[in-house]
Amino acid sequence: MRIDVVSIFPEYLAALDLSLIGKARQDGLLDLTVHNLRDFTSDRHRTVDDTPYGGGAGMVMKPEPWAQALESVRGGSRPVLIVPSPAGAVFTQAMAHELAEEQHIVFACGRYEGIDERVLEWAKDSFDVRPLSLGDYVLNGGEVAVLAMVEAIARLLPGVVGNPESLVEESHSDGLLEYPVYTKPSAWRNLEVPAVLLSGNHARIARHRRDEQLRRTALRRPDLLELLDAATLDRADLAVLAEAGYAVVGGRLTRTQVPSEGSA
Ligand code: ADE
Repeated sequence: MRIDVVSIFPEYLAALDLSLIGKARQDGLLDLTVHNLRDFTSDRHRTVDDTPYGGGAGMVMKPEPWAQALESVRGGSRPVLIVPSPAGAVFTQAMAHELAEEQHIVFACGRYEGIDERVLEWAKDSFDVRPLSLGDYVLNGGEVAVLAMVEAIARLLPGVVGNPESLVEESHSDGLLEYPVYTKPSAWRNLEVPAVLLSGNHARIARHRRDEQLRRTALRRPDLLELLDAATLDRADLAVLAEAGYAVVGGRLTRTQVPSEGSA
């Protein structure tokens, strides 16, 4: 996969040299280049921003340097252009999986009040343009969002994560949060690892973990439960969910009661 990141703070992206993503780059699994937007300006001051038409606070990123930068990194195909923005659709694990299938992704990091909207319009001719948000909060610019999105996408590329099984049983891979994990010692500061995990009974362990996923999701992310297809739930799932205050109504899980203290 090829990734190009355009930013006025290329140093922000230095973390992409580290750990598994850094290794993927060294191993040739990920061809990632960071570009300085100011290299695509033509004035003495390397200006990238100006005041907003219509008035208001802050500065807006000028269209010309962006057009130069995007033309320079576009290449031959029609890349995905991700523009991180709190005004974008929320980036999800499902999107990370889809994006991991792409040949070429370009990230355009906005700063200040954002990039002149015409850049996104203009780019539609040669890019698949996607404004994406990390979540419902505001960052100072797109760089931190790019670090998160590149990591979420690149770790799904074949060969990047050593044991591909670890990608299967993680949060969000089946619409549920991950189950809690434990390691040695089995008793620590008066806290015991659940006995079933020491039993060696793989079926019981799998059931226990599934129950924990359902309980945890009901407690922490009830919005995810309501998206589940009820047809994928077995009787044991439904029993755990009933305890957590959920029942199937019209094919969807619906909250029937406020969960009691012990239920999560
Ligand atoms: N830029 C500023 N805030 C952002 C957010 N929440 N997600 C993505 N990019 C951003």
